[in-house]
Amino acid sequence: MMVEISVFAGAGQLAMALADLVAERLRRTPTLVLGLPTGRTPLGFYRQMVRIAREAGADFSRATTFNLDEFLGVGPEEPGSYRQYMERHLFRHINIDRRHIHFLDGAAQDPAAECERYEAEIRAAGGIDLQVLGIGGNGHIGFNEPAGSLVARTHVVRLQLQTRRANASLWGGDVTRVPRRALSMGMATILHARSVVLMATGAEKAACVSAMVDGPLTTRMPASFLQLHPEVHVMLDRAAARGLRRK
Ligand code: GLP
Repeated sequence: MMVEISVFAGAGQLAMALADLVAERLRRTPTLVLGLPTGRTPLGFYRQMVRIAREAGADFSRATTFNLDEFLGVGPEEPGSYRQYMERHLFRHINIDRRHIHFLDGAAQDPAAECERYEAEIRAAGGIDLQVLGIGGNGHIGFNEPAGSLVARTHVVRLQLQTRRANASLWGGDVTRVPRRALSMGMATILHARSVVLMATGAEKAACVSAMVDGPLTTRMPASFLQLHPEVHVMLDRAAARGLRRK
């Protein structure tokens, strides 16, 4: 398997190493096309990325970003949207050209057309160079939830209760306010990125991390399909790495 695994003493070290990695890729390729995640895990990474941008001048001016997903029925200005999460934690703190920020519009009139538009924008940008990922406690990536079958391209998804609970903090801690559906890049959209970095921290991710790395390819564990990708780097803290056969 081509998966490279790095285990860090803690989430702080992991966040710093990932931000360094992205900064280095950006130096090498100023026009880098980045795929970006949301969730609690990437918060430390974004904090470090902002710090590097301030202190060492990581230059995003020619970079392009595509976020993985957005809640359906939720416009870009709504506080619970992933778009606002990204504004708060990254975009407003770096020198990215706002025309280079790509996002699924959760409030689009025609969600299917919106998904097609997004795929076309990724193609027009020349594809994603580096896709940064988190992983859901149930093994989802983006919002590709475990199921009997998975969808290749950007599509409308129905969120599982566990996933809605994990996202409740964006909605005042109230799971009933978390939308039931979302738009997400599909499995092929993610797997076609030239390189992938997945981060996971904490003991509650240990079981899905070991299933992702050492388990069979199964639609019940969407992240397991990353084993097919030629260039995947998995960054873990010790707690998340606990179940791995090799470390
Ligand atoms: C959300 C996102 C995923 C993310 C997951 C994990 O559901 N759509 O992209 O990986 O949360 O979240 P956390 O990092 O909070 O565990």
